[in-house]
Amino acid sequence: MKLAVVGGGSTYTPELIDGFARLRATLPVTELVLVDPAADRLGLVGGLARRIFAKQGHEGRIVTTSDLDAGVEGADAVLLQLRVGGQAARQRDETWPLECGCVGQETTGAGGLAKALRTVPVVLDIAERVRRTNPNAWIIDFTNPVGIVTRALLQAGHKAVGLCNVAIGLQRKFAARLGVDPSALHLDHVGLNHLTWETGVRLGGPGGENVLPRLLAEHGDAIADDLRLPRSVLDRLGVVPSYYLRYFYSHDAVVEELRTKPSRAAEVAEMERRLLEMYGDPALDEKPELLAKRGGAFYSEAAVDLAAALLGGTSGGRASGGGAAGGGAAGGGAAGGGSPYQVVNTYNNGTLPFLPDDAVVEVQAAVGPKGAVPLPVPALDPLYTGLIAHVTAYEDLALDAALRGGRDRVFKALLAHPLIGQTERADGLTDRLIAHNREHLAWA
Ligand code: G6P
Ligand code: MN
Repeated sequence: MKLAVVGGGSTYTPELIDGFARLRATLPVTELVLVDPAADRLGLVGGLARRIFAKQGHEGRIVTTSDLDAGVEGADAVLLQLRVGGQAARQRDETWPLECGCVGQETTGAGGLAKALRTVPVVLDIAERVRRTNPNAWIIDFTNPVGIVTRALLQAGHKAVGLCNVAIGLQRKFAARLGVDPSALHLDHVGLNHLTWETGVRLGGPGGENVLPRLLAEHGDAIADDLRLPRSVLDRLGVVPSYYLRYFYSHDAVVEELRTKPSRAAEVAEMERRLLEMYGDPALDEKPELLAKRGGAFYSEAAVDLAAALLGGTSGGRASGGGAAGGGAAGGGAAGGGSPYQVVNTYNNGTLPFLPDDAVVEVQAAVGPKGAVPLPVPALDPLYTGLIAHVTAYEDLALDAALRGGRDRVFKALLAHPLIGQTERADGLTDRLIAHNREHLAWA
């Protein structure tokens, strides 16, 4: 099996390599190509990647290249994990919205729109080149904003699934608190990428006993701390919001906080500098501890599970020992071992009846070689449907602005965002977004 990682020079890549090495029974990778335009990073990351494979006795070949077409040729799946404009662009996304009293965040609000505008054309161009060389390859998109980027890919007819680590992270943390194997926990996860709630935590799979009330009663304080949300919010809602809901439920307080402290981009840039220095040390042959301070924990495990299911390998059997045959999960069949279901971003297709079919939602799905089929979701309270529908409308306009450009489309997307909603604010944000991103916007 051959996999290609576009953005393979990312400092995150050793996390992925470590997952591929540990979980090789689930996903037998024979060749892994790291594709990146930054040759210097690729050298450092590729070197460490080879040492990690060697240490763990993985016989797969690791190739590095800046040639996209050559890199993706013959790949069964292509992972997209790129950041157009790097941490410098993220730093700006996190800063200028604050001048208008809005949250500065890389995927939420005006900063998220800027990221979408920079990213969608680049990702579509890459996907087009992948399809030309390799029409059967699956595209796994980690590139943010995952909901909007996945919708762009699906709309253009690509074989794509969007992936985020929020759900797997919560599943792993809840399992540790309850003292159970993560494969035993099924999350009732619903919403849009970075706008989700866990409405149930079930033992043994969908329909299993809901242990969310027990989890909140016994570990509510710790979970709330982790999410940086007040405990009372969890108790009053009776669900666990993702930490991105903080930007909505505590918007004004977060704006005040962000005004006084260094941006996350600045923190990450410093970590990246140190990580790259470590990666250059020929004695290092495992992912460094420091990487755990990044937000992407468990993303390698989510990627392995998803790629294995899409490529017809083992799905879900890993956590209970791996090796079980499965993969035909789409359509309802179950693989052996743990849960055959995975949280992914894919077309709504009636799952949330208050959204258009072609909206992209983030929900549990049965995943197999034919793709992802969402599991049914019980009717949701208006407390959630309202916000989900509102942000979906924003995402619709955001994608239109990303595909067709123009100040007016940017303004309308911003005006439609529930955290913006006022014309004067939307105008101020539009001017800043364009001024700070001109070099990345073909139409500006
Ligand atoms: C979480 C999100 C990712 C995001 C990351 C940021 O993992 O799910 O979509 O990219 O956090 O982490 P960072 O360390 O870059 O702040
Ligand atoms: Mn994410």
